[in-house]
Amino acid sequence: MSGMKALGIDIGGSALKGAPVNTRTGRLLADRLRIATPEPLSPLQMSRAVARIARHFHWRGPIGIGFPGAIEGGCRIMTSANLHPKFVGVDGRKLFGRATGCPVSMINDAAAAAEAEMRFGAGRGFMGKTLLLTLGTGVGSALAYQGVVVPLELGHLPWRGRDAEDLVAASVRENQDLSWKKWGLRLGAFIQTLESVLWPELIIVGGGVSSKHEKFFKYLGTRARLVPAEFLNQAGIVGAAIWTLSTK
Ligand code: BGC
Repeated sequence: MSGMKALGIDIGGSALKGAPVNTRTGRLLADRLRIATPEPLSPLQMSRAVARIARHFHWRGPIGIGFPGAIEGGCRIMTSANLHPKFVGVDGRKLFGRATGCPVSMINDAAAAAEAEMRFGAGRGFMGKTLLLTLGTGVGSALAYQGVVVPLELGHLPWRGRDAEDLVAASVRENQDLSWKKWGLRLGAFIQTLESVLWPELIIVGGGVSSKHEKFFKYLGTRARLVPAEFLNQAGIVGAAIWTLSTK
């Protein structure tokens, strides 16, 4: 079994979640541990929370971490729209590697979800152009084509005078108590804007809200085939874990 397991950790705006994953099948090997973060954690506090997840699973091995920001050079955190601003400029591989004593690979959280969905989930076997969107605190995005995943930051596309995610994230629907219809039509208009420049053949929608897809998919009106993520909100954990195989 050794070499087939990695700990996947998904850092999000309201919680971090982790579980050991079988990297050949994409299956979780234990129930995930979720640590809620009602206050934004500083990088040091976050590294302690990550270490807590590793300790919980008695982990000694590769760790993949999905982070909600642009990552450069496989390690450097360039943006932190929904987490503590002090993350900007931090080398995540070093920060979390020191805290856990394990080798760490960093990947954008939506790109991690795309890795999992394209390999084991809703995009399995599909080689055409796929747009994956994750709807949560922010809006995550990635394109996949011919087996290659490219992280994007479409949630920050200027749209209707704002950052798009300030208008269409799942958190906006909850915080502003929007009806599914109102939010769905707005999200649909945004996705149609994306379709006009990206021309995806398949759109996969992830994030916690994807489990309620029957409430809003009908309002989206996309040209491309639209499907919910199969891993729902576990794609980030699985994708971060399998990412460790690509970054030795
Ligand atoms: C971040 C992205 C992230 C998305 C979803 C955005 O605010 O900039 O990097 O993928 O939120 O978490």
